[in-house]
Amino acid sequence: MRETISPARAIEGVITLPGDKSISHRYGMLASIATGRSTIANYSTGADCQSTLTCMAALGAKIQRRDGSVVIEGGTLQEPGAMLDAGNSGSTIRMLSGILAAQAFTSRIGGDESLSRRPMGRIIGPLTEMGARIEAREGKYPPLVIYGREHSGALHGIDYHLPMASAQVKSCILLAGLFAQGDTIVREPVRTRDHTEIALKEFGAEIEIKKRTICLHAGARLSGRELVAPGDLSSACFFMVAALLLKESSLVIHGVGLNPTRSGLLDFLVSMGAQIKVLEVHQVGGELIGDLRVQASPVTGGVIEGAMTAALIDEIPALAVLGAASSNGLTVRDAGELRVKETDRIATIEAGFRQMGVKIETNPEGFHVPGGQSFHAAQIDSAGDHRIAMAFAVAALAADGPCTIEGAESAGVSFPEFFGTLRQITQT
Ligand code: S3P
Repeated sequence: MRETISPARAIEGVITLPGDKSISHRYGMLASIATGRSTIANYSTGADCQSTLTCMAALGAKIQRRDGSVVIEGGTLQEPGAMLDAGNSGSTIRMLSGILAAQAFTSRIGGDESLSRRPMGRIIGPLTEMGARIEAREGKYPPLVIYGREHSGALHGIDYHLPMASAQVKSCILLAGLFAQGDTIVREPVRTRDHTEIALKEFGAEIEIKKRTICLHAGARLSGRELVAPGDLSSACFFMVAALLLKESSLVIHGVGLNPTRSGLLDFLVSMGAQIKVLEVHQVGGELIGDLRVQASPVTGGVIEGAMTAALIDEIPALAVLGAASSNGLTVRDAGELRVKETDRIATIEAGFRQMGVKIETNPEGFHVPGGQSFHAAQIDSAGDHRIAMAFAVAALAADGPCTIEGAESAGVSFPEFFGTLRQITQT
C-alpha cells in the first residue's frame, strides 16, 4: 500500500494513543499464564501485539476483546496444534520462548521473512544454560523448535550477565525463571526498559532490583489483574517530531507512558531545545502515565551514545529525521543493534534519506546526519519496516512537495491508526 503525504504547515490537536507495544506484550503473556481473569484496557492495536494474543490463544488461554479491553482467562498452557506464528514480532518470539522452554510439551515458533532473519542465539544461549533444549534454523534463526520437559528436564535458575543491552533477552530469561527451580538473576550492561520487572510484581511475583541486577525469586504464583496499557511513547515520538519540525505546531498527547526507562526521549529532545511540557503524571499498575504538550521549536541537534542509545533505540528513525532539520545535526553511536531490527535500520534510514536528497554518513555502529538540511519530494520505500514508514511520513510533511511512502501498511505492525491520526492533526 502507498500513502501520499503532502507538505504541511503545522500539527495541531489533542490526541490519545493506543497502548504501549512493549507493555501490551508483557501483559498478554503474563495474563495467559496467571491464574484467573485479567482485563487489559487500551491493549496495543498493532499486529505485533495481536501475534502475541494469537500465540497465547493457540496455547490455550481464553482471550476475548470486550468494550475496548482484552480479557484473558489464564492458567496452565496446553500443547498448540500447529506452529506458533509470531508474525513480524521479535518481542513475541523472544519473550514467549522463555515461557515455552519450561512447558511439558514441545512447541515450534516462527514468523515472517523479516523475523526469520533476526538473531535468536541471544536467547538460545541463556535458555540452554537453564536446561532448555532448542533447535533453530542454522543454529540461530527462526523457526525454533523448543523441546518440552520430557526431553530437557525442569529448568533451573541461572546468574546471567547479559552480553548486550536487550530488554527482550532479559525478559525471556525472567519469564523462563518463573518456572525454574531456584532464583534467576540477570545482570544488565546498561539499564533497559523495565516493564517486565514492573509487570511481574503486579502479577504477584517476588523480584528484587539493585541497580542493574534483577533477582526473580523461585516459586512465584501469578494471579489475574485489572490493567491499563499507557499510550505508546514510541508511537507518540513520530507526532512529537512532526510538531517540533513544523512551525506554529502545538500538540497535546494524553495518557502516554512515561516510564523512566523510556522517557529519556523527552530529556534528549528538551536538551536539544524542544519545548515539551509534562502536564500531569500518575501511576497505574506501577507504570507512569502523563499528558504532554509539544510546541514547534528550533532544535540544536545532539549525540546519542552508550546507555542513551539503548534507551532511545526505537526512536532513532524519527530522531534521524529531526536531526537532519536541526541546526547541528545528529550523531548516533553504539547502535549496532539497529542493524538487526525489523530491517537493518541504519541502511533503511540511509536509503530513505538518499531518496529525499538528505546527506548521511553511516558506519557499522551508527551514523551522522549533518544539520540544516531540507527534505526533497521523493518516493520512499519503507522496506516493510513500521518505524521507517512512520519516520519518513514525518519527513514528508516537511518536504518541498508531495512524497509517497511505499509499504505504508507496515505501520500497522505497531500503530494501525498512524496515517489516520496524522491526517487529523495536520494543517496544510
Ligand atoms: C523491546 C525491546 C527492544 C525494542 C523492541 C521492544 C521490548 O528490543 O527495540 O521494539 O519490548 O522489550 P531489544 O530488547 O532487542 O533491544
